Amino acid sequence: MTAPVRTEDSQEARGSRETRGSQELIRAEGPVLAHNYHPLPVVVARAEGTWVEDVEGRRYLDMLAGYSALNFGHRHPALIEAAHRQLDRLTLTSRAFHNDRLAEFAERLAALTGMDMVLPMNTGAEAVESGVKVARKWAYDIKGVPAGRATIVVAADNFHGRTTTIVSFSTDETARAGFGPFTPGFRVVPYNDLAAMEAAVDETTAAVLIEPIQGEAGVIIPDDGYLAGVRELTRRKGCLFIADEIQSGLGRTGRTLAVEHEPVVPDVLLLGKALGGGIVPVSAVVGRREVLGVLHPGEHGSTFGGNPLAAAVGTAVVELLETGEFQRRAAELGVILRDGLTGLVGKGVVGFRSRGLWAGVDIDPALGTGREISERLMREGVLAKDTHGSTIRLAPPLTITGEELRGALAALEKALG
Ligand SMILES: Cc1ncc(COP(=O)(O)O)c(C=O)c1O
Repeated sequence: MTAPVRTEDSQEARGSRETRGSQELIRAEGPVLAHNYHPLPVVVARAEGTWVEDVEGRRYLDMLAGYSALNFGHRHPALIEAAHRQLDRLTLTSRAFHNDRLAEFAERLAALTGMDMVLPMNTGAEAVESGVKVARKWAYDIKGVPAGRATIVVAADNFHGRTTTIVSFSTDETARAGFGPFTPGFRVVPYNDLAAMEAAVDETTAAVLIEPIQGEAGVIIPDDGYLAGVRELTRRKGCLFIADEIQSGLGRTGRTLAVEHEPVVPDVLLLGKALGGGIVPVSAVVGRREVLGVLHPGEHGSTFGGNPLAAAVGTAVVELLETGEFQRRAAELGVILRDGLTGLVGKGVVGFRSRGLWAGVDIDPALGTGREISERLMREGVLAKDTHGSTIRLAPPLTITGEELRGALAALEKALG
């Protein structure tokens, strides 16, 4: 697609020490960087809004948005300003002291999500780990599960992060192989299967932990009524409902939270990615007072969790979401995305699932792997990434315009041609 014309000389404006070209930089990474990712062969040097620019000055439309960490686009002015202001004042205290930004962040995030309390962390995986710990503690302290026997019911094909405990309940062998021994206490049931969940939940169950939409699995949307069913089941059986909204939350699906589509209120929400505005890692466990209230001083923590810079950026993110503008954009532009993809079915697309500005697109395997299609898209000036096999995930910044979105769809059609 046609990229907007640059107005400044990238070499000068970059102001970077780096003078090596893309190919050279990619080669240089090989011997010194652990190979835990397989990035597309593009080396991004700068970005603004929905566009990124590589070291040679080529521009690409970002249709991945940092796996939803960039819901507000790159370097959103309000977020950059909040970060700059805070950088000039105070960046870190640790939680050994109070800082003057944290109360407002917690108050506003709790109000936005309709919850009582916030446990601030940094990465998504940390929020999940923290949610698991809180659920277990709640099971022992409040529910009365015998010590050491708490279980958590999770869904097959989940993605909740990469720590040892989290991969303990992954069903993706690539994520697990070679990393055992694993943490016990998890029961895996098929996603979107209430009967299986009913059978797995018993008196030892602390919580059910699911993604309201499974992102990494390929944007898998459960049947209508599934989330409400999980809510009813967990309430009836006396265990917690933890919704991992780290990728699905904060505007992506056209609502603040993906669970609102039912509508359902879980006991605990896990948030991350976009909460840091694409600037700093910010995550949080947000929940009812009865649940998060089980933590006492010394029982859990993080040096950087709730730091003033993160709290300032997180507050600015919440402020953007309070306007409702981004949720509205995701819902409205989501119609263009859905209609555009519908038009591609039978033309290289064999099926897709979408909600708001989020889609998992299954490409005809005869045309190439998801990776190959992503590389073809890259050559068309659009960055997206495969998930599994021939599925490509589209998740542009919620600031994308209708015209840009139509351009991305046209590029996809070309890449499939
Ligand atoms: C649903 C979900 N939970 C947790 C995580 C882990 O987040 P992080 O990579 O910040 O640790 C991810 C990341 O993709 C995710 O999609």
